[in-house]
Amino acid sequence: MYKTVIRPVLFSGLKADPEWLHNRSMTLLEWLENNQNQFPANWVLKQVSSQWRYEETRLSQTLWGITFPNPLGLAAGFDKNGVAASIWDRFGFGYAELGTVTEHPQPGNPPPRLFRLLQDEAALNRMGFNNEGSQKLAECLQKQAGRRGNAPLGINLGKSKITPLEQAAEDYLTSFLRLREWGDYFAVNVSSPNTPGLRSLQDSKQLSLILEAIQANNPQDKPILVKIAPDLTWDAIADVLTIAKEYQLAGIIATNTTIAREGLKTKTINGNPITEEAGGISGKPLRDRVTAIIRYIYQQTEGTLPIIGVGGIFTAEDAWEKITAGASLLQVYTGWIYEGPMMAKQVLTGLTQKLDEQGLSHLSEAVGRSINN
Ligand code: FNR
Repeated sequence: MYKTVIRPVLFSGLKADPEWLHNRSMTLLEWLENNQNQFPANWVLKQVSSQWRYEETRLSQTLWGITFPNPLGLAAGFDKNGVAASIWDRFGFGYAELGTVTEHPQPGNPPPRLFRLLQDEAALNRMGFNNEGSQKLAECLQKQAGRRGNAPLGINLGKSKITPLEQAAEDYLTSFLRLREWGDYFAVNVSSPNTPGLRSLQDSKQLSLILEAIQANNPQDKPILVKIAPDLTWDAIADVLTIAKEYQLAGIIATNTTIAREGLKTKTINGNPITEEAGGISGKPLRDRVTAIIRYIYQQTEGTLPIIGVGGIFTAEDAWEKITAGASLLQVYTGWIYEGPMMAKQVLTGLTQKLDEQGLSHLSEAVGRSINN
């Protein structure tokens, strides 16, 4: 029903601009969040939960002392300002990663900056960290504190565009200090292709400065993860892993969007060759590269460093591949748009079936299984 009737109307009928549609959805979600204890929002959320939530204790994951009711999270970039932070569990997500937020509020790049590549089941975005800033997110999360369910929240931190690269560490640190009591874990995002020079922060020296600043101000030992780009070489990934050890990182988020354009069926957007359009590609074209990166990290660290796998997950099969390659948790963005709001339930039901087929009693037994067996 979603793919045959609703999606075609949403994608092309009403108004084709994907960012417009996203903003309308966020307005609705914010309204549901704000009014969740009153009719009719409480009724709508009840319907949403009963249709799209799926509970299965065999899928819960405990990492860093935090229990995730299921392994599938909403990826960063969807709820940048955390306006629906307390209700993502109703849609079936086991957790949500809010942000990216930056020290300073900023408008991002000029539109149009988000495109669907329908033939590739992908998206191209060059949003450029449009967000209301980390102070506003802290206030928003404080307001929602009493309403939060049992789904943990990650917070994804980036660098403001106006902050010079040499001062990046202070920018990340300011946001971390504002938000540290509100996040269950934190992602240091050094992998967006849409802030000039940001990905150069994946380089060992620069990354060390950011992590040192954060860890020196992390008395509660909040888990700190780094989100990497899929375009790094194996050697560069190995360097990140060395740093991860040095700064007691809690894990790696693999990966952000890609700047590669190989193998796409879509040749033009906006009338321009896709090779000339700036931005990062998400969705199906990322899937296998990300799985290979997960496998590499798992092998290099002998399974000792938790991995959040994100990129091109649409089905339970995709999710299973990433878990058996070594991911302990997963995230989705583009797949949720293409498959619809029932996606989380479909993926989680499918994962439960996989456990049955393989005779496993818990999802944690499947992590890295394609490597260990
Ligand atoms: C993203 N992504 C992203 N990542 C991040 O760390 N910070 C961000 O602000 C954003 N913003 C963003 C906007 C849009 C429109 C998209 C499509 C993606 C990347 C996202 O979190 C994820 O890493 C990739 O999209 C790969 O996963 P999917 O989309 O293939 O499931």
